[in-house]
Amino acid sequence: MVIEELTYLDDLEIKHKRVFIRVDFNVPMDDKGNIADDTRIRSVLPTINYALDEGAKIILASHLGRPGGKRVENLSLAPVAKRLSRLLEKEVKLAPDCVGPEVEKMVAAMKPGDIVLLENLRFRPEEEANDDEFGRKLAGLADVYINDAFATAHRAHASNVAITKYIDVVGAGFLMKKELAYFSKAFEDPVRPFVAIIGGKKVSDKVSVLVNLCDRADKLIIGGGMALTFFKALGYEVGNSFVDDTALPKAREVIEKAREHNIKLFLPVDFVVADRFSPSAETKVVTYQEIPKDWMALDIGPATVTLFSEALQNAKTIIWNGPMGVYEMDAFSRGTFAMVTSVANTYAMTIVGGGDTDVAIHRAGEFAKMSYISTGGGAFLDLLKGNELPGIVCLKRRAGADNKTEKQRSL
Ligand code: 3PG
Repeated sequence: MVIEELTYLDDLEIKHKRVFIRVDFNVPMDDKGNIADDTRIRSVLPTINYALDEGAKIILASHLGRPGGKRVENLSLAPVAKRLSRLLEKEVKLAPDCVGPEVEKMVAAMKPGDIVLLENLRFRPEEEANDDEFGRKLAGLADVYINDAFATAHRAHASNVAITKYIDVVGAGFLMKKELAYFSKAFEDPVRPFVAIIGGKKVSDKVSVLVNLCDRADKLIIGGGMALTFFKALGYEVGNSFVDDTALPKAREVIEKAREHNIKLFLPVDFVVADRFSPSAETKVVTYQEIPKDWMALDIGPATVTLFSEALQNAKTIIWNGPMGVYEMDAFSRGTFAMVTSVANTYAMTIVGGGDTDVAIHRAGEFAKMSYISTGGGAFLDLLKGNELPGIVCLKRRAGADNKTEKQRSL
């Protein structure tokens, strides 16, 4: 793991310097344009506060949503600037763009302790294209580059990859450090038994996670939409349930690999099935062999909750990604909420990743009982797959040279 190979914000001399901090302020917004959940903003406050205390000039940059390379008014970072300003009790100026003469003028006028938030990076097509010239322009705004956007680290974009070629001093922020520290504790040297719970319906993405987990976990619990693809792979009738046929070969690979590595694979033994995908559908509980032809499984059943909960009893490390059913609809939420309670009541170190699982845990009021809830969705999954994240690799590449020298210079 790269955690020891990176330089962090507190290793660097930043007094009175212009510090560009790539954050992930991609927060959910409600239909009135209000921030629905500011967890991602709060998560980087330690980094921002440290830079403020050190007397840096802070330039924050983020994307919000997927505007597709053009200005989309309701994806402006204006509400974020306002919320951040309230959280810091300090003015946060929103720049009219993320590059260009006006932004350069604003940055040139900054004094130590000032904060400027650049406008949504994805209003420019060059951001997602990882455009070199755009990266160079962003780099021109600052003396030091800090990446604290763990949730975006799986994307190779200009503000987290190209920019690092054009700035001498680069490092990671405290959120990035925390995310990597928890992940490596759970994943690389777990206290055993190590149990992984994988649910949700991004099946093709998550089967690769399961393949990798076969090399590490002691038990794998598979719920949610994932489970149906596994039952189809095993030759069972799954009615109208959601199945990702492209993932069937990989599902078989997981079953085979788990058997070879002696890993216990837990699949549901019963489901809540519905006659249609609707909160008012007719429902019943059936065993996994009895899913009726025209019905669909939308939640795990009560016997499965007992089975999965028992499998968690002696766990010392748990990683959880993905709900057990369509928890957004009351009729199919019991399995997910019961699993939240079961996980919360273990003595294990519990690491949770992925937006849906996080929302379910918050709704159940159990977030305080989890050891760590990652701010990453796709980034967390990529780590679980065993992938290197481009936004982190380019920090590592630079860590050996410039930054250590920088630190030594300041001693
Ligand atoms: C996320 O929400 O997972 C990150 O902000 C990345 O967003 P993206 O999937 O739009 O790249």
